[in-house]
Amino acid sequence: MSAQADSAQQPQSQPGLPPTAHRRRLRYSGKNPRRFEDKYKERDPERYSKTVAKVLASGKTPAGTHRPIMVKEILEILDPKPGETAVDCTLGYGGHALEILSRLQPGGKLLGMDADPIEFPKTEARLRAMGYGSDTFVCRRGNFAGLPQALVAAGWDGADMILADLGLSSMQIDDPSRGFSVKREGPLDMRMNPGRGQSASALIEKIEAKTLAALLADNADEPYAAELAAALAGRSLQTTTALAVAVCAALPRLTREDRDLSIRRVFQALRIAVNDEFSALDAFLRNLPACLKSGGRVAILTFHSGEDRRVKKAFQAAARESLFAAIAEEVLRPSPEERHDNPRSASAKLRWARKA
Ligand SMILES: C[S@@+](CC[C@H](N)C(=O)[O-])C[C@H]1O[C@@H](n2cnc3c(N)ncnc32)[C@H](O)[C@@H]1O
Repeated sequence: MSAQADSAQQPQSQPGLPPTAHRRRLRYSGKNPRRFEDKYKERDPERYSKTVAKVLASGKTPAGTHRPIMVKEILEILDPKPGETAVDCTLGYGGHALEILSRLQPGGKLLGMDADPIEFPKTEARLRAMGYGSDTFVCRRGNFAGLPQALVAAGWDGADMILADLGLSSMQIDDPSRGFSVKREGPLDMRMNPGRGQSASALIEKIEAKTLAALLADNADEPYAAELAAALAGRSLQTTTALAVAVCAALPRLTREDRDLSIRRVFQALRIAVNDEFSALDAFLRNLPACLKSGGRVAILTFHSGEDRRVKKAFQAAARESLFAAIAEEVLRPSPEERHDNPRSASAKLRWARKA
């Protein structure tokens, strides 16, 4: 069955203005568009609020947006107050940043960082349009490994609170042209900053099997690392689908469910490698105590065990050296309600620390 987008909701010519160029109405099979590019209603939340509300109610994330995770818990930890300074190291769609920014007023400032040159300007523009000028919202695109330099550039001698919400935003996952998701065919890229480093496709083509096996084991605990590495290393795999097909072909004895798990782990391991995520996180964790003012708070959301292990160990080491006065005893998890409403929150783990 083929459906057409509701022409009444398509951009129309305005009376008194020259007619807009004729555009074919969108065509797609089924009731709703499936392709990211066609989801024009979800990607324009101000105009199509009803559609966006419906998508949210179904437990999905509207295309081109991101739902912030564990907001209540993070606000309790960071406890933003008027006049304070905050750094959001992973600005993404700005969901957490907006909640913090409003509580810092009057007189407070938030420094927003993100490595992604595609989404960062869109988020900056959205927050500026909401009235946050450069007196309250300072933007710096870059890797959070460079947090100390970002603070110096902003003229700050530390922050009262720091947030890092690791991993990918929904905008990055859902955009097929970024190559992050197996669910959407696209170029096998996976770079948060496509202007730097090499794509996942280039990495696979150049890497030796032994190195790839270690990478799959270290970055994603892949149990079939050696078999997969032998089958993948040196291959020219240009798309996300080509990689998924190659993983399946390398593991013919497994059930479909187990092969899907391996595909997910291979994607995760490659993404971590392409973006050098563990080096960035280690540098960030090393710099953290010095970047906080005395009494400063930090909250870090992680999404897999490799990240959480690093955060836990770094916090424990800093506490032993009395650089942190208190750290999370236990990891915090999203409530069952949040996991139900936003399945993308399911694997989130939150840790916090407070500087002496
Ligand atoms: C889960 S999203 C953040 C979502 C955000 N908290 C919100 O409410 O919209 C993670 C973001 O971190 C960014 N990121 C990941 N690693 C980074 C790094 N090392 N330095 C800077 N940004 C990074 C990604 O580009 C992505 O935009």
